[in-house]
Amino acid sequence: MVFSSCILVVKTSAHYKKANSKKQNHFLIELFNIMLTQICIFDAYGTLFKVASDTFEIRSALGDKSESVQALWRQKQLEYTWLRSLMGTWVNFDEVTEKALDYALAHHQIEDANTRKLLLRIFYSPTLFKDVLLLIQKLYEQENQIAIASNGTRALLEKSAEATGIMQYLSHIISADDAQVFKPSPAYYQMIIQHFGCLPDEVTFFSSNAWDIAGAANFGFRTIWVNRKQTVFEQLGVKPQYVVNSLKKVFE
Ligand code: LAC
Repeated sequence: MVFSSCILVVKTSAHYKKANSKKQNHFLIELFNIMLTQICIFDAYGTLFKVASDTFEIRSALGDKSESVQALWRQKQLEYTWLRSLMGTWVNFDEVTEKALDYALAHHQIEDANTRKLLLRIFYSPTLFKDVLLLIQKLYEQENQIAIASNGTRALLEKSAEATGIMQYLSHIISADDAQVFKPSPAYYQMIIQHFGCLPDEVTFFSSNAWDIAGAANFGFRTIWVNRKQTVFEQLGVKPQYVVNSLKKVFE
């Protein structure tokens, strides 16, 4: 069982350290160079939840434009969060997402209201990547505190966590709604250490979004970039501590 070998690695690892003092009260597990702390924070869209869909319905509605529409939608969704944070014109992630979709559909000259409804239905009922549940369950069994930290609205994050069965493992959900600013603003990541009453380096932050990892690393978190798309990292002056191409690799 991988879990027992994980304990074995911990017992033999030179880096295994169970500190007693509150300040350093995090349990370092070195497993093939991945050092986890007891507070594990996950980005949502693209990391836990899929952000594109390739269902029969989508292919029927969008045909060969499917990939391009969804890619532009995601790009504009992120751009609008960055621009609104810089402009100081906060609206929640649902509204940003719907406006980004309007842009992507207009760009592709798609006016069919049913197509818009279908794409939004997928956004509002996300599915988990296959590699998520096992890792979350293992981290929970190891008595780590697990939370989602996302730009998503609190309502949608709670609904999605319930619907995908991970809510039972979460100790908290941090939404951009709470600070009315989006990642990668330091004011967003500050909410995490305020909630847990910890130091930045006591947090292990998982995200598939390189810009989010750059923001988290800049803030001082330990970072694991889940490089699902095998891209190069962003040139933003910081690097992720660890890179995996799937969450399976954290415990493999
Ligand atoms: C999130 C998106 C931006 O915050 O990945 O979940």
